[in-house]
Amino acid sequence: MHIVILETASDIGSYAGDLILRGVAAGTLRTLGVATGSSPLSIYKSLEHRWTPALGALSAFALDEYVGLPPDHPESYSAVIRREVTGRLRLDPARVHVPQGNAPDLAAACRDFEDAITAAGGIDLQILGIGRNGHIGFNEPTSSLASRTRVKTLMSATRMDNSRFFADEQQVPRHCVTQGLGTILEAREVLLVAQGAAKAEAIARAVEGPVSSMCPASALQLHPRATVVIDEEAARQLTLRDYYRYVQENPVDGSGAQ
Ligand code: F6R
Repeated sequence: MHIVILETASDIGSYAGDLILRGVAAGTLRTLGVATGSSPLSIYKSLEHRWTPALGALSAFALDEYVGLPPDHPESYSAVIRREVTGRLRLDPARVHVPQGNAPDLAAACRDFEDAITAAGGIDLQILGIGRNGHIGFNEPTSSLASRTRVKTLMSATRMDNSRFFADEQQVPRHCVTQGLGTILEAREVLLVAQGAAKAEAIARAVEGPVSSMCPASALQLHPRATVVIDEEAARQLTLRDYYRYVQENPVDGSGAQ
């Protein structure tokens, strides 16, 4: 894994924004996997200020959605993606896909979502945040490392963390639809971003711990092109952080690639 330690959320947003704009300009990035939550917001804001027509031509696939929230609920992920991604990046809404949390047949909707990713030629770059329990998407601990898009039950710790977006914890749905770990691992490149001390333990387990479904983000160790961009606080429990900084300052080929 390529670990990059930066100072501020805005530095993380610019770094990730540069990576995306480079891929878009080179024609290697046509389909972007997008996450909701607080962590990736600085990426979308950074891209909004550096918009290009090629960026606006991207297709996008969201990671997850709550089950049972009406799509016009301001905290449904389809609403969040409309606001933070489709709006800021000026994407064509017809090319932005969010898993359906209200379909009468959720299993069929999950299969359709996987088929839509395949029809788009796969995801070129998947943006990810990480939960304090190590989840990516809403793949909670013990998710199969080979899982596909499916319905999951949220852990109470996740519902508590996400209650900041709702009036109270009781309003946070109990179920969600999420891309699986197998789905995420098929993206051609993955980029995980995290900020703050609350994420330090999850980052250490994901990067330096054993690959285990108890920390779903550790599955990214199996990905050949995974970059983790974090601030100092989130890096605090990494035992090899001096080495990562040294690598950052002495890149192999001058471009930062590992
Ligand atoms: C959101 C998602 C989640 C979040 C994670 C961190 O689409 O898939 O895995 O990335 O819960 O959320 P924040 O960034 O709000 O701390």
